[in-house]
Amino acid sequence: HDPGLSPPSPVMGHKPLQLIEMKARGRFGCVWKAQLLNDHVAVKIFPIQDKLSWQNEYEIYSVSGMKHDNILHFIGVEKRNNNLDLELWLITAYHDKGSLTDYLKANVLSWNELCHIAQSAARGLAYLHEDIPGHKDGHKPSVAHRCLIYRAMTVEPSDTQASPSLRSLPLKLCYWSLSYLRDIKSKNVLLKNNLTACIADFGLALKFEAGKSAGDTHGQVGTRRYMAPEVLEGAINFQRDSFLRIDMYAFGLVLWELASRCTAADGPVDEYMLPFEEEVGQHPSLEDMQEVVVHKKLRPCLRDCWQKHAGLAMLCETIEDCWDHEAEARLSAGCVEERIGQMQRQAPI
Ligand code: ADE
Repeated sequence: HDPGLSPPSPVMGHKPLQLIEMKARGRFGCVWKAQLLNDHVAVKIFPIQDKLSWQNEYEIYSVSGMKHDNILHFIGVEKRNNNLDLELWLITAYHDKGSLTDYLKANVLSWNELCHIAQSAARGLAYLHEDIPGHKDGHKPSVAHRCLIYRAMTVEPSDTQASPSLRSLPLKLCYWSLSYLRDIKSKNVLLKNNLTACIADFGLALKFEAGKSAGDTHGQVGTRRYMAPEVLEGAINFQRDSFLRIDMYAFGLVLWELASRCTAADGPVDEYMLPFEEEVGQHPSLEDMQEVVVHKKLRPCLRDCWQKHAGLAMLCETIEDCWDHEAEARLSAGCVEERIGQMQRQAPI
């Protein structure tokens, strides 16, 4: 069904919704903290030009079985007139702690906190990846699900900001490529008050929209930085499992971000840095990323002092098994979730 044509979602009804404060500016509009009756909610506001992103995100939240403790809770959508401009709103649960990136910039983590965040994020990802034919709300599809692919088919491949090799792909192949652009990165992991992680941000179509030049660094930085070697090389094979493995590479980088801010090791904790920031700085070009990740096969540094903590040493092994150059060798999200459980039991502090 086309959310563009449907009335405001029934959940919203005519309840008053009042914006309070802007919390984050993304590549497509911004996220506000808002009041909905007695609750705080998050409102992501898309300008009308980004309708496709809004529609994609709405469709993804509307597929069966997207309700999960570790996936951002979707509440509804609205179309609003702001003066003469039509705005598209997407309303979700609000989490005061914000994204994992924000949290790690301002806080260090105990071993227990690390395990809780990592395990809950892995659980969310494992659930997203899972195909559940018998889900009570209907068949829950895996990551490369239909609406995403359908939506991408309506987009010109020449508009993509992805790599030149992607841009030159025939449309039929190019639309598949959209599903890996739902990038797993620490900015897309939100933290609830008890530090339980939930996975957010499904508005990827933006990357394929016209009028956004490659000079627009907002979306570009994050996406390139977390791109798996096979994506940087333009050498993905168009099967569901390849997309899941691309997510796992990026999840390895997120786990490294957690390790880098953990106090469990007997050594100093560095200031927060993005993955590869040491190697390529803040605004890497695609060529920078190709050089480091594909040709030099570098990965962010796993510090020697981490090896002395039994749990962190196991985490390092897991991280390496996630960001392996060989996509087929990477762990599944379910396996990562299980390993984190084991390392927490073996190294309780
Ligand atoms: N930033 C992006 N989405 C958010 C949300 N749902 N709650 C809090 N901060 C956010």
